[in-house]
Amino acid sequence: MTDATPSPDPGPLGAPGPSAAPDADALDADTLLRATGSVREFTDRPVTRAEVARILDLARFAPSGGNQQPWHVVSVEAPAVRAALGECIVTAAKEYLTLRTAGQRPFGLTVHGRWPGPGPVDLAAARAADLDAPAFTGLAQAPAVLAVLVELGKLAAMDAELDRHGVVAGASIYPFCWQILLAARLEGLGGVLTTFAVRDEPTALAALGAPPGWALAAVIALGEPVHRPTRLRREPVAAFATVDGFAGPALTP
Ligand SMILES: Cc1cc2nc3c(=O)[nH]c(=O)nc-3n(C[C@H](O)[C@H](O)[C@H](O)COP(=O)(O)O)c2cc1C
Repeated sequence: MTDATPSPDPGPLGAPGPSAAPDADALDADTLLRATGSVREFTDRPVTRAEVARILDLARFAPSGGNQQPWHVVSVEAPAVRAALGECIVTAAKEYLTLRTAGQRPFGLTVHGRWPGPGPVDLAAARAADLDAPAFTGLAQAPAVLAVLVELGKLAAMDAELDRHGVVAGASIYPFCWQILLAARLEGLGGVLTTFAVRDEPTALAALGAPPGWALAAVIALGEPVHRPTRLRREPVAAFATVDGFAGPALTP
């Protein structure tokens, strides 16, 4: 791996955009970390390959287990590939919203750390229904769509033999995904990390031309936000941090 700056703009996703991050100087780190919320609605302003390259040039400094850097990013421009990903996203969104409407934590690991299945919810019927949720149906048409793939052979699943669904392997790819969103924020862009398409991973991987041994971690939509969230809903520290044990006193200053 070299530390070279990205090569010159290999061509635009649309019309050329700004050549430097527009508000990078103005954005302080505190705001970056507190106010980088999900954006699912974008203006028509194109995102250039140069912007995507700059974003990935920052994101690559994310940590990964053993510094394996197990990622590959496909910047999806072709309408046919976008359509295939969009279909995966929308189909899974239908399932997700139907499970949520039925009162479930969709795909939640609620029974001994595993997803117990949909129970009485008819997922086939959910998939066949129409979806009127522009926040999800438009994701694959965002100004930039990045499919983040992960090479399974480079992951160390330290929880592989535990009697629950794995969580550790993902820690080698999702910091990278999050760093993409932070870097996009520095470019004056916004976006959202989505995992809906993973529900139909074989279709998504085929559309992306992924070789064997790779998995789909996320599809990240990026663009200029129509609205930028300023106050994110998060629990205060004392609600999730304790001292000396899970049931210990709340950690307060
Ligand atoms: C691992 C992960 C998976 C996510 N998957 C989706 C998704 O498939 N679709 C989606 O619209 N948002 C997805 N999100 C975005 C979350 O819904 C969002 O971060 C959360 O609701 C908090 O909202 P905020 O980021 O605007 O504060 C995902 C976020 C993470 C971290």
